Amino acid sequence: MPTLTKPKEHNRERPVVFMENVSKIYPNGKTAVQNVSLEIEEGEFISFVGPSGCGKSTIFNMISGIIEHSVGKLEILGTTPTLARQQSTDVSFVFQEPTLLPWRSVLDNVMLPLEFRNVTKQEKLEKAHHVLKMVGLSEYTKALPRELSGGMKMRVSIARALVSKPKLLLMDEPFGALDEITRQNLQSELLRIWETEKMTVLFITHNVFEAVYLSTKIAVMTPSPGKVESVVEVPLPFPRNEDFRTSHQFSDIAAKVSQDLKF
Ligand SMILES: Nc1ncnc2c1ncn2[C@@H]1O[C@H](COP(=O)(O)OP(=O)(O)OP(=O)(O)O)[C@@H](O)[C@H]1O
Ligand SMILES: [Mg+2]
Repeated sequence: MPTLTKPKEHNRERPVVFMENVSKIYPNGKTAVQNVSLEIEEGEFISFVGPSGCGKSTIFNMISGIIEHSVGKLEILGTTPTLARQQSTDVSFVFQEPTLLPWRSVLDNVMLPLEFRNVTKQEKLEKAHHVLKMVGLSEYTKALPRELSGGMKMRVSIARALVSKPKLLLMDEPFGALDEITRQNLQSELLRIWETEKMTVLFITHNVFEAVYLSTKIAVMTPSPGKVESVVEVPLPFPRNEDFRTSHQFSDIAAKVSQDLKF
């Protein structure tokens, strides 16, 4: 069974995500995910690729505690997903649609996750300005969402997810609705942020090239029922410049992922 486990001699106490034979059976009897075992360590960037309906979002929803798993063992940062969600800001989510509040400014949207936290107004402002700078939107703090392009809205959404300094960032097809140039720019920005913030990122995409460019490892999923078919390593250093996208290594790994997808 494929896992993301490192060799045994590597002694870790608490993986960021620990899944052992996890299955999800929805109340209507549909087995969406079957027997998935993954161990994801701190600082990894793992992409999940697989055809529509193979259970990618289901896995993310279980990890984030939005839904419960049916069978197996699932721990996030050493605790249950529900407790991780309720008791800390360690886990953040970015969806395909930016889901911004239309009546709030960019700054106020980004401060939203800090609203009910024990943080002074001054700290909230500082944190929000900091993450907006990271995503290149310092000039747009007062703008309303309708005044922004699709790529800028996604940047706000990423800033909002980063403002609580999560240890684990889950991104469910965040760049799926963007044009290719905006998408590539945001990929580079995301990698730069990932490298400086040193968080763990789990990223869903249909795009094999996007997965290879971004990831340390790629979990390839197959449907009916949803399984992790293989874990493909991308053993190439960061920062990855634009030349990487046209290298032989890049196309070799993309070919391997595509082959596993057709399993
Ligand atoms: N609440 C639900 N009740 C019953 N079945 C569900 C529910 N949510 C999802 N499913 C089913 O579980 C399977 C996996 O769905 P999921 O949304 O996880 O797929 P996905 O890989 O994220 O697909 P996509 O790439 O289209 O987003 C699908 O067959 C779907 O119909
Ligand atoms: Mg999905």
